[in-house]
Amino acid sequence: MDVSILTVFPEIYTNFLQTSLMKRAQEKDIVSFDVCAFSSFCKDKERIDSPTVGHGSGMAIRPDVIERAVDVQEKKYGKAYRIFLTPQGEKLDQRLTKKLAMSFVENDHVMLVAGRYEGIDERAHTEYVDIEVSIGDYILMGGDLPAMVLLETVMRYIPSVVGKSESVEKDSFSGAFLDFPTYTAPPRVWKDREIPPILLDGHHAKIDEWRLNN
Ligand code: ADE
Repeated sequence: MDVSILTVFPEIYTNFLQTSLMKRAQEKDIVSFDVCAFSSFCKDKERIDSPTVGHGSGMAIRPDVIERAVDVQEKKYGKAYRIFLTPQGEKLDQRLTKKLAMSFVENDHVMLVAGRYEGIDERAHTEYVDIEVSIGDYILMGGDLPAMVLLETVMRYIPSVVGKSESVEKDSFSGAFLDFPTYTAPPRVWKDREIPPILLDGHHAKIDEWRLNN
């Protein structure tokens, strides 16, 4: 699976993609990332942004730059499922995460488009978007942190990225309930606090019932 990431600041992704889950997914050849600066689709001195039209000042990313980026990346990896990160998008929750994970599995090429400034020219947006995703009702400086949040949550659902698939299915938000309290042993007692005895007696059904209630 090829994932193209179109961004103003490719350097933001360097450590993220070399760490933990993302690193493992690449080492296992499950996914390959191609992080591209919008500027790499521009000629020398050509700007990636233009002033927005109408009242209020600001800059937005030009539609012809998006066009070139999409064309070049799709020529390399084939037609993409195109995800735009914007505050107006569909809110990312665990249900949408599962749906997006399916899209990742079903499409050999997924493209994440992270805007900055006042966003992306509406015409390019309308022309290319397959789904628009927001990570919450607040405005960030751009779509890069949202793209990383999306990747981290989606990759956990891609078969064989997370070691034990059970740890994905049983964790927070996957079911109707939130995560249950976690204890480590050793130490069995820490600062006079003991581990609930039921967790130590090896009776799985009783432990599951306790977890549902805690
Ligand atoms: N870009 C700026 N804010 C955003 C948000 N909350 N979600 C997705 N993309 C964004």
